[in-house]
Amino acid sequence: MTNDEIRARFDAENAAVYTQRLRLCLPEDEYSTQLMLQALEPYLASKEEAYILDLGAGTGGSCRHVLRAFGNYHVTLVDFSQNMLDEVPNVLVDYSGRYTTVQADIWEVDFPSRAFDAVVASFSLHHGRGETVYANLYRKVYAWLKTPGIFACRDVVDGDTPELSAMNESGWRQYLQQQDFSPQDIERLFSNYQCEDSPISLRQHLALLTTEGFNAADVLWKRFNFAIYVGLKSGGQAAGLYKERIPYS
Ligand SMILES: C[S@@+](CC[C@H](N)C(=O)[O-])C[C@H]1O[C@@H](n2cnc3c(N)ncnc32)[C@H](O)[C@@H]1O
Repeated sequence: MTNDEIRARFDAENAAVYTQRLRLCLPEDEYSTQLMLQALEPYLASKEEAYILDLGAGTGGSCRHVLRAFGNYHVTLVDFSQNMLDEVPNVLVDYSGRYTTVQADIWEVDFPSRAFDAVVASFSLHHGRGETVYANLYRKVYAWLKTPGIFACRDVVDGDTPELSAMNESGWRQYLQQQDFSPQDIERLFSNYQCEDSPISLRQHLALLTTEGFNAADVLWKRFNFAIYVGLKSGGQAAGLYKERIPYS
């Protein structure tokens, strides 16, 4: 699918129910959500004000966790689907004045240097086509971040070989079966995944992040074909210690 076809698909979604349906498909959603917040914490908690950018923010479901967890901070939500953004005031009804929406393409949008303390992306970057678009984005994200700053992404990732991809995808298929998805729904999800998504592997993400300037890159969580990876812009200084890791559940 082209970028325009993907946008048309999101413009045709029922935005009010889309995010809820998405969450049902994701393994360890609650745990990985909390882990994302824990990753951000040292970069935000000590600041009186902080600015966070959410790339492919959709209806704001992930931003709501960030806004709830961190004091008086501000989130900029970028999405190319106005249909998804139109739902944001309903999802973020308790956080008026603490967010701004921007209708723009992730791969083309630009912001001033050192504008954000954290940049996050949740299930949106896997629409990128090829390493070059990720390299260009990661170079810009590095520039947009303050020092210290963090980029944290939770997304679908490819295996590093076709065999590993097949193994990961078979794990996801089993997970969906255990969640009582019907065979038709599972086939629909996989056929959508195969024509719309084009994830790259964690090895590629980590290499691109460090090539484009990040001082450190790591994987915090992986389950089947889903992962959280981070890039740190530290300028040689640690942002702060992580609290004890949240209990695995
Ligand atoms: C699967 S949804 C995830 C939404 C949200 N981040 C969440 O976790 O609930 C993917 C979102 O990314 C957006 N998106 C995909 N490609 C994009 C692009 N090139 N530019 C901007 N937004 C994009 C879609 O419109 C959609 O709202």
